[in-house]
Amino acid sequence: MTAAADLAPSGDSLAAECGACRRCGLAETRQQVVVGRGNPNARLLLVGEAPGAEEEACGQPFVGRSGRLLEAMLAAAGLSSEQDLYIANVIKCRPPGNRKPSRAEIAACRPWLERQIALVRPQLVLLVGATALEALLGIRGGITRLRGQWLQLETSQGPDQLAPSQASQRQPTPSPRSPLRWPDQGEGGIALMPLLHPSYLLRNPSEAEGSPRWLTRADLVAVRDRLGRDPCLG
Ligand code: URA
Repeated sequence: MTAAADLAPSGDSLAAECGACRRCGLAETRQQVVVGRGNPNARLLLVGEAPGAEEEACGQPFVGRSGRLLEAMLAAAGLSSEQDLYIANVIKCRPPGNRKPSRAEIAACRPWLERQIALVRPQLVLLVGATALEALLGIRGGITRLRGQWLQLETSQGPDQLAPSQASQRQPTPSPRSPLRWPDQGEGGIALMPLLHPSYLLRNPSEAEGSPRWLTRADLVAVRDRLGRDPCLG
Protein backbone atom coordinates (compact mmCIF):
# COMPACT_ATOMS: atom_id res chain seq x y z
CA MET A 1 0.00 0.00 0.00
CA THR A 2 1.26 3.50 -0.77
CA ALA A 3 1.98 6.03 1.97
CA ALA A 4 -0.80 8.22 0.58
CA ALA A 5 -3.37 5.44 0.71
CA ASP A 6 -2.38 4.12 4.11
CA LEU A 7 -2.17 7.57 5.69
CA ALA A 8 -5.24 9.07 4.04
CA PRO A 9 -7.41 10.69 6.73
CA SER A 10 -10.34 8.52 5.64
CA GLY A 11 -8.17 5.52 4.78
CA ASP A 12 -9.17 2.26 6.35
CA SER A 13 -5.70 1.08 7.32
CA LEU A 14 -3.49 2.98 9.75
CA ALA A 15 -6.21 5.46 10.72
CA ALA A 16 -8.76 2.71 11.34
CA GLU A 17 -6.32 0.50 13.25
CA CYS A 18 -5.21 3.45 15.32
CA GLY A 19 -8.85 4.35 15.95
CA ALA A 20 -9.40 0.91 17.46
CA CYS A 21 -6.28 1.11 19.65
CA ARG A 22 -6.69 0.31 23.36
CA ARG A 23 -3.02 0.09 24.29
CA CYS A 24 -3.27 2.68 27.06
CA GLY A 25 -5.78 4.43 29.29
CA LEU A 26 -6.15 7.38 26.89
CA ALA A 27 -8.53 5.15 24.90
CA GLU A 28 -11.04 5.54 27.76
CA THR A 29 -11.26 9.32 27.53
CA ARG A 30 -10.62 10.14 23.87
CA GLN A 31 -13.35 11.32 21.50
CA GLN A 32 -11.32 10.27 18.46
CA VAL A 33 -7.71 9.59 17.52
CA VAL A 34 -5.65 12.23 15.73
CA VAL A 35 -3.31 10.51 13.30
CA GLY A 36 -1.77 13.01 10.90
CA ARG A 37 -2.26 15.53 8.12
CA GLY A 38 -0.33 16.97 5.21
CA ASN A 39 1.51 15.27 2.39
CA PRO A 40 2.31 11.62 3.19
CA ASN A 41 4.89 11.68 0.39
CA ALA A 42 6.71 14.72 1.80
CA ARG A 43 10.38 14.44 2.66
CA LEU A 44 9.85 16.52 5.76
CA LEU A 45 8.06 15.06 8.78
CA LEU A 46 7.02 17.25 11.72
CA VAL A 47 6.32 15.54 15.05
CA GLY A 48 4.65 17.35 17.95
CA GLU A 49 3.52 16.12 21.35
CA ALA A 50 -0.19 15.26 21.50
CA PRO A 51 -3.53 16.61 20.30
CA GLY A 52 -5.37 19.26 22.30
CA ALA A 53 -9.11 19.92 22.43
CA GLU A 54 -9.41 21.48 18.95
CA GLU A 55 -7.28 18.77 17.37
CA GLU A 56 -9.40 16.08 19.01
CA ALA A 57 -12.61 17.76 17.80
CA CYS A 58 -11.32 17.99 14.18
CA GLY A 59 -9.26 14.79 14.14
CA GLN A 60 -6.25 16.72 12.79
CA PRO A 61 -2.99 17.66 14.48
CA PHE A 62 -1.96 21.27 15.07
CA VAL A 63 -5.20 23.04 14.17
CA GLY A 64 -5.70 24.90 17.48
CA ARG A 65 -3.88 28.01 18.75
CA SER A 66 -0.45 26.36 18.64
CA GLY A 67 -1.20 25.03 15.18
CA ARG A 68 -2.25 28.41 13.84
CA LEU A 69 1.00 29.95 15.07
CA LEU A 70 2.99 27.04 13.65
CA GLU A 71 1.17 27.36 10.33
CA ALA A 72 1.92 31.11 10.14
CA MET A 73 5.59 30.54 10.93
CA LEU A 74 5.90 27.74 8.37
CA ALA A 75 4.28 29.94 5.72
CA ALA A 76 6.56 32.87 6.59
CA ALA A 77 9.54 30.57 6.00
CA GLY A 78 8.11 29.49 2.63
CA LEU A 79 6.96 26.04 3.76
CA SER A 80 3.49 24.73 2.91
CA SER A 81 2.02 22.35 5.48
CA GLU A 82 -0.05 20.71 2.74
CA GLN A 83 2.76 20.15 0.25
CA ASP A 84 6.11 20.21 2.04
CA LEU A 85 5.29 18.38 5.25
CA TYR A 86 3.53 15.51 6.87
CA ILE A 87 2.46 16.43 10.42
CA ALA A 88 1.97 13.95 13.26
CA ASN A 89 2.25 13.73 17.04
CA VAL A 90 4.04 11.37 19.39
CA ILE A 91 0.66 10.60 20.99
CA LYS A 92 -2.49 10.03 18.96
CA CYS A 93 -5.07 10.60 21.71
CA ARG A 94 -5.66 13.72 23.76
CA PRO A 95 -4.35 13.45 27.32
CA PRO A 96 -7.11 14.70 29.67
CA GLY A 97 -6.66 18.35 30.57
CA ASN A 98 -3.86 18.58 28.01
CA ARG A 99 -1.40 17.20 30.55
CA LYS A 100 1.96 15.95 29.34
CA PRO A 101 1.79 12.33 28.19
CA SER A 102 3.39 9.80 30.53
CA ARG A 103 6.35 7.64 29.52
CA ALA A 104 4.05 4.60 29.49
CA GLU A 105 1.64 6.36 27.11
CA ILE A 106 4.52 7.39 24.84
CA ALA A 107 5.79 3.80 24.77
CA ALA A 108 2.29 2.45 24.10
CA CYS A 109 1.82 4.83 21.15
CA ARG A 110 5.30 4.26 19.69
CA PRO A 111 4.27 1.53 17.20
CA TRP A 112 1.87 3.98 15.50
CA LEU A 113 4.57 6.60 15.12
CA GLU A 114 6.96 3.96 13.80
CA ARG A 115 4.34 2.90 11.24
CA GLN A 116 3.93 6.53 10.14
CA ILE A 117 7.67 7.05 9.85
CA ALA A 118 8.04 3.82 7.85
CA LEU A 119 5.27 4.95 5.47
CA VAL A 120 6.44 8.54 4.99
CA ARG A 121 10.17 7.65 4.95
CA PRO A 122 11.17 11.24 5.72
CA GLN A 123 14.65 12.56 5.07
CA LEU A 124 14.23 15.52 7.41
CA VAL A 125 12.37 15.37 10.72
CA LEU A 126 11.35 18.32 12.89
CA LEU A 127 11.07 17.43 16.58
CA VAL A 128 8.69 20.01 17.94
CA GLY A 129 9.15 20.34 21.69
CA ALA A 130 10.79 18.36 24.45
CA THR A 131 8.38 15.41 24.31
CA ALA A 132 9.16 14.75 20.63
CA LEU A 133 12.90 15.09 21.31
CA GLU A 134 12.70 12.52 24.09
CA ALA A 135 10.27 10.16 22.36
CA LEU A 136 12.14 9.99 19.06
CA LEU A 137 15.76 10.28 20.16
CA GLY A 138 15.74 9.40 23.85
CA ILE A 139 17.20 12.81 24.74
CA ARG A 140 15.78 14.16 28.00
CA GLY A 141 15.91 17.93 28.42
CA GLY A 142 18.07 20.19 26.32
CA ILE A 143 15.48 21.46 23.81
CA THR A 144 16.68 25.06 24.27
CA ARG A 145 20.28 23.99 23.73
CA LEU A 146 19.60 21.65 20.81
CA ARG A 147 16.92 23.65 18.93
CA GLY A 148 18.01 24.73 15.50
CA GLN A 149 20.76 22.11 15.25
CA TRP A 150 20.82 19.35 12.68
CA LEU A 151 21.27 15.94 14.25
CA GLN A 152 22.18 13.18 11.85
CA LEU A 153 20.74 9.70 12.28
CA GLU A 154 22.97 7.32 10.35
CA THR A 155 20.37 4.75 9.44
CA SER A 156 22.62 2.90 6.99
CA GLN A 157 24.90 2.02 9.91
CA GLY A 158 22.05 0.73 12.00
CA PRO A 159 19.01 2.33 13.55
CA ASP A 160 20.67 3.57 16.71
CA GLN A 161 23.50 5.68 15.34
CA LEU A 162 23.00 9.33 16.07
CA ALA A 163 25.79 11.71 15.19
CA PRO A 164 25.65 15.47 15.63
CA SER A 165 26.15 17.24 12.32
CA GLN A 166 29.02 19.69 11.87
CA ALA A 167 26.77 22.50 12.99
CA SER A 168 26.27 20.86 16.35
CA GLN A 169 29.74 19.52 17.02
CA ARG A 170 30.38 22.24 19.56
CA GLN A 171 27.60 20.79 21.68
CA PRO A 172 27.81 17.70 23.91
CA THR A 173 26.91 14.60 21.92
CA PRO A 174 23.28 13.64 22.47
CA SER A 175 22.36 10.17 23.66
CA PRO A 176 23.09 7.80 20.76
CA ARG A 177 20.23 5.42 21.45
CA SER A 178 16.99 6.24 19.76
CA PRO A 179 13.99 4.42 21.27
CA LEU A 180 12.45 4.21 17.79
CA ARG A 181 12.97 1.86 14.88
CA TRP A 182 13.85 4.00 11.86
CA PRO A 183 13.68 3.02 8.20
CA ASP A 184 17.07 2.66 6.54
CA GLN A 185 17.47 5.75 4.38
CA GLY A 186 20.80 4.72 2.92
CA GLU A 187 23.94 6.81 3.08
CA GLY A 188 22.04 10.05 3.53
CA GLY A 189 20.46 8.83 6.74
CA ILE A 190 17.89 11.09 8.34
CA ALA A 191 18.54 14.64 9.54
CA LEU A 192 16.56 15.83 12.53
CA MET A 193 16.14 19.31 13.94
CA PRO A 194 14.61 20.01 17.37
CA LEU A 195 12.39 23.11 17.44
CA LEU A 196 10.78 25.05 20.27
CA HIS A 197 7.12 24.11 20.72
CA PRO A 198 4.58 26.71 19.50
CA SER A 199 2.75 26.56 22.87
CA TYR A 200 5.99 27.89 24.41
CA LEU A 201 6.13 30.55 21.70
CA LEU A 202 2.53 31.56 22.51
CA ARG A 203 3.63 32.19 26.10
CA ASN A 204 6.64 34.18 24.82
CA PRO A 205 5.23 36.58 22.23
CA SER A 206 8.31 38.80 21.80
CA GLU A 207 9.60 38.95 18.23
CA ALA A 208 12.80 40.74 19.29
CA GLU A 209 16.12 39.55 17.90
CA GLY A 210 17.25 36.52 19.90
CA SER A 211 13.77 35.83 21.30
CA PRO A 212 12.34 32.28 21.08
CA ARG A 213 10.08 33.29 18.17
CA TRP A 214 12.93 34.99 16.34
CA LEU A 215 15.11 31.90 16.79
CA THR A 216 12.34 29.59 15.58
CA ARG A 217 11.76 31.70 12.48
CA ALA A 218 15.48 31.41 11.73
CA ASP A 219 15.36 27.64 12.34
CA LEU A 220 12.49 27.24 9.86
CA VAL A 221 14.34 29.25 7.24
CA ALA A 222 17.29 26.87 7.72
CA VAL A 223 14.91 23.94 7.17
CA ARG A 224 13.48 25.53 4.03
CA ASP A 225 16.99 26.23 2.74
CA ARG A 226 18.05 22.63 3.31
CA LEU A 227 14.97 21.34 1.49
CA GLY A 228 15.72 23.66 -1.41
CA ARG A 229 19.45 23.02 -1.47
CA ASP A 230 19.48 19.26 -1.39
CA PRO A 231 18.22 17.84 -4.70
CA CYS A 232 17.22 14.65 -2.91
CA LEU A 233 14.95 16.69 -0.65
CA GLY A 234 13.38 18.95 -3.28
N1 URA B 1 0.39 20.54 20.37
C1 URA B 1 0.97 19.46 19.82
O1 URA B 1 2.07 19.08 20.17
N2 URA B 1 0.30 18.81 18.85
C2 URA B 1 -0.89 19.20 18.42
O2 URA B 1 -1.42 18.56 17.52
C3 URA B 1 -1.46 20.34 19.01
C4 URA B 1 -0.81 20.99 19.98
